[in-house]
Amino acid sequence: MKPVKVGICGLGTVGGGTFNVLKRNAEEIARRAGRGIEVAQIATRHPNPKCDTGATSITDDVLDVVNNPEIDIVVELIGGYTLAKELVLQAIENGKHVVTANKALIAVHGNEIFAKAREKGVIVAFEASVAGGIPVIKAIREGLAGNRINWLAGIINGTGNFILTEMREKGRTFEDVLKEAQELGYAEADPTFDVEGIDAAHKLTILASIAFGIPLQFDKAYTEGIARLTTADVNYAEALGYRIKHLGVARRTDSGIELRVHPTLIPADRLIANVNGVMNAVMVNGDAVGSTLYYGAGAGMEPTASAVVADLVDVARALTTDPNNRVPHLAFQPDSLSDHPILPISACESAYYLRIQAKDHPGVLAQVATILSERGINIESIMQKEAEVQDGLVPVILVTHRVVEQRIDDAIAALEALEDVVGQVVRIRVEQLN
Ligand code: HSE
Repeated sequence: MKPVKVGICGLGTVGGGTFNVLKRNAEEIARRAGRGIEVAQIATRHPNPKCDTGATSITDDVLDVVNNPEIDIVVELIGGYTLAKELVLQAIENGKHVVTANKALIAVHGNEIFAKAREKGVIVAFEASVAGGIPVIKAIREGLAGNRINWLAGIINGTGNFILTEMREKGRTFEDVLKEAQELGYAEADPTFDVEGIDAAHKLTILASIAFGIPLQFDKAYTEGIARLTTADVNYAEALGYRIKHLGVARRTDSGIELRVHPTLIPADRLIANVNGVMNAVMVNGDAVGSTLYYGAGAGMEPTASAVVADLVDVARALTTDPNNRVPHLAFQPDSLSDHPILPISACESAYYLRIQAKDHPGVLAQVATILSERGINIESIMQKEAEVQDGLVPVILVTHRVVEQRIDDAIAALEALEDVVGQVVRIRVEQLN
């Protein structure tokens, strides 16, 4: 059979990795796909020194690739929303299949892109958009297709996890670790996407859609980053038997779907609490299977290429199939998507870690306990650091049982209004993941 012709748009970290993996593993890939997968053209403005493209046709205009009649599959690896969207829509219009690693594009414009792809009978594959080399989209969309998914929770930003790990283990500064992540090619072009949780929210939006069969709704995700975490809270969390991770959590409840990204205390003995460095991990809980865990490299040249190439093999195998009988883009049939609402963060339920800077007076703890009990908030553990009294202030740290966020908001407002409490109360959500 004739080889499938691929055009790669973007020869950066992932594009270069994709070219190299396709070349190095060409024989194994052809044995799997049933035909060769050949790079016919590359669009790039700069050569990649880690990539020997030999005689492959190179252009500096992505639209040359998209409009090249020889090409069957366009691989979009330029990132961003603007040109990437234009080239993907044009490729679909031209009847080409698309493989992309672009989580921002899928999370924000995926509904429109998939509708257009259905109209034209082409595939848009996006395994590399979430958790790099971990085949978690395939696992949820196909491997867990028999389940009603209850919840998923993941460390889905390698840069953020790398920063938290290095800060905790080596006491390095935030800026220093971020710089290294940028040099290693893990960080987004705009690193605020990593540290403010936007990248993780893009990925969580995609995972929630394929887990629950809902349209992509990035604008409704609650997003909180890691930039305001302090070493003190990291250490108090450890003393309480927890570790702080930056988690994306999606949970189905009767009233709606929780879709939230934020720093989270998780019990230190959970496997996912021990996922360090740039590694990613996603827990998925289904009613039949129980909890499952997917772990691996969440970014980087060849790990992400691994997912791009797997999509290329999938598309190569499906080229001759009836478009109506392919795996749906969002796992559920497009006319069966649910309108179960995304909950605002105030309606989400969690346990909470609170740190209160209190004046070292008799009766302060009693006032704190009263405020919480009046709002039906149950305390799981409490710790007062007498040894750390500074300027007459003592840190009071407590962990609550699960409660709706609105009640914690009320309690924090009341605590901050106390004469014996100074400054803002620190609040970090806690998940047991069991
Ligand atoms: N900036 C992303 C991360 C790259 O650090 O996880 C992979 O999506």
